[in-house]
Amino acid sequence: MLLLGLESSCDETGAAVVRDDGTVLSDVVHSQVELHAVYGGVVPELASRDHARNVAPVVREALSRAGVTLDALDGIAVTHRPGLVGALLVGVQVAKGLAWASGKPLIGVDHLMGHLLAIFLRREGESAPPPPEFPFVALLASGGHTALFRVDGSTTDAVHELGGTRDDAAGEAFDKVAKLLGLGYPGGPAVDRLAKGGDASVFPLEAPMSHGTSLEMSFSGIKTRIATHVRERTTPLSAEEIAGICASFQRAVTTVLADKLLAAARRESVRHVVLGGGVAANSELRRRVTELAEAHGITAHLPDKQSCTDNAAMIAYAGAMRLARGEHDAWDLVATSQTALPRATRKGRGKR
Ligand code: KG4
Ligand code: ZN
Repeated sequence: MLLLGLESSCDETGAAVVRDDGTVLSDVVHSQVELHAVYGGVVPELASRDHARNVAPVVREALSRAGVTLDALDGIAVTHRPGLVGALLVGVQVAKGLAWASGKPLIGVDHLMGHLLAIFLRREGESAPPPPEFPFVALLASGGHTALFRVDGSTTDAVHELGGTRDDAAGEAFDKVAKLLGLGYPGGPAVDRLAKGGDASVFPLEAPMSHGTSLEMSFSGIKTRIATHVRERTTPLSAEEIAGICASFQRAVTTVLADKLLAAARRESVRHVVLGGGVAANSELRRRVTELAEAHGITAHLPDKQSCTDNAAMIAYAGAMRLARGEHDAWDLVATSQTALPRATRKGRGKR
């Protein structure tokens, strides 16, 4: 089975052609990072307009790189939730048009399912380790969401949230701290880079909510501590101090994420843990999770970095899993800011 996937929930316009065994034939991403960088975050109206400008060439490129036409496809999958509604609408309307013109089924995909299943993607030229077995526990950490899920299968009804952030998403905290330190947008990769040479003892921070057995998390307090420190300074921060704050912040956040993921896996008695979402590209998180899992006899599965951040290949794959069960949508498929996954709709979710 061969699917075209479309992704436009936030600031990446993506189209990809993927087989139902996870083989990625093409994966095209047009990033809007430069467009939004000057504002320090995503401006929804600009995002929608840029998706509208780029979606047709991105789809054409994805089909061309895969060497297929619409006729060769078994279905057209599109992210229809959660995300910026105006941005989602662009992908949804284009997918409807393509499905209508080609007579192929239209499959709406929850963006979070895409991130949770991105570990099953197989890219050409990469020797990927074996995929995880169900059930597994996944940490989804992105700019809009941070939560732990038990995943018993590849469709929405087989996924249950176990806990998550009470306030900011982890990626949101990375972005806000980077902005405070003048590191630009998006902040995650910049903090990751600077933390490598930083001395965390310059500005010690405790890992938030790391005690006890709760799987809840919180990242706004640690961000506020850094904001207060920066505001109270009468002289500019030196490069060493900035690197030290990055190292300390990253250590605190990745410690909580890795500890809670492993605690969830032990509580659920599963042997496999999986990472997903943009923050899963973080080098320290990847190292911590790998080491902790190994120490507990659990296998850690880390998607390649391209599969962690927003892409349409994960959407095509999640769509293929729905289609394989005979599920597809009709012309009334809507774009909505809410996820369909249970227990993931509390305050602070579904937004960036
Ligand atoms: O999954 P994603 O591409 O979009 C959303 O669905 O939100 O995640 C983007 C987020 C941003 O907050 C970005 O700063 C963060 O992922 N990110 C990272 C790294 N690379 C991207 N955070 C920490 N370390 C990284 N290396
Ligand atoms: Zn995402």
